[in-house]
Amino acid sequence: MKIAITGATGHLGHLVIQHLLSQTPANNIVALVRNVKKAESFQKQGIEVRHFDYDQIESLQPALQGIDKLLLISANEIGRRTPQHKAVIDAAVAAQVPYIAYTSLLRADTSQLSLAQEHRETEQLIHNSGLSYTLLRNNWYIENYLADIQHTIESGILYGAAQDALISAAPRQDYAEAAANVLLGSVHDNKTYELASSTAFNLDALAKTISEISSKPVVYKNLSAEDYKQMLLQAGLPESLAGTMVEADIEATRGAFFSESKDLENLLKHPTTSIEATVKSLLASF
Ligand SMILES: NC(=O)c1ccc[n+]([C@@H]2O[C@H](COP(=O)([O-])OP(=O)(O)OC[C@H]3O[C@@H](n4cnc5c(N)ncnc54)[C@H](OP(=O)(O)O)[C@@H]3O)[C@@H](O)[C@H]2O)c1
Repeated sequence: MKIAITGATGHLGHLVIQHLLSQTPANNIVALVRNVKKAESFQKQGIEVRHFDYDQIESLQPALQGIDKLLLISANEIGRRTPQHKAVIDAAVAAQVPYIAYTSLLRADTSQLSLAQEHRETEQLIHNSGLSYTLLRNNWYIENYLADIQHTIESGILYGAAQDALISAAPRQDYAEAAANVLLGSVHDNKTYELASSTAFNLDALAKTISEISSKPVVYKNLSAEDYKQMLLQAGLPESLAGTMVEADIEATRGAFFSESKDLENLLKHPTTSIEATVKSLLASF
């Protein structure tokens, strides 16, 4: 059984491979990477590394020879993803890979987030391909709110524009473990999973958790969309990323990241990681 992971050198890819390694021998895993130099740690663990660049179509089909299951981790260049994903799906069909799993977005079929469009298009390409598939519709990563946690603690303010929206975000670790379980399982063909945390939180609760765990005063400050965007730009975020974050918070107020789905905890066979545990482990990593 050969299981291949695209984007293996990324955050999620690394975590998926860690979870696979805890359940299957390294020689069952193939890391598909754009930059082989970044994958030395995989080779040291006995994992086969193959060059795989979505933009170099000729690299794709040969790298998929002999693969039984492929995890396509969505690419990270917004606006270029559909053709990149199409190239991978076409190559999987040509290489006779029987099965593909894809990391999509919560309720990709109906989500009003502009990010959802490329996921919808990719899901359609997978449906049209005739491959057996699993759609892993990952909700927002909780890390999106914690990327600058040290600064949040120093300033004592967690900024956002999500008001008191309930958000069912989980850490990458949980989505990765679920993906590994799906790849190693045998009952997930042609299923679509809506993957969200067991317990929802709002940004006020997240700020309180950061405060309790860091023992420093931290409060949530809600800004208007325009003020939040200006703040992100002043903090040095590129215009497009700042726009995505503001849009995400506005859509959060309309329920975009809230879900009562139990698919994630069912795949994990345990509740998702609490926000307390996530913040604790993040702070311990500094
Ligand atoms: N749900 C959410 O909240 C959320 C948030 C952020 C992102 N996402 C999505 O989830 C995906 C995984 O997240 P992540 O945190 O692991 O992202 P990440 O750390 O940025 O990893 C992206 C991976 O894609 C690879 N990649 C990019 N362009 C490629 C190309 N042309 N050919 C082959 N590989 C290419 C990168 O390779 P290199 O290592 O060579 O750069 C990297 O390994 C993202 O790509 C994005 O689609 C979801």
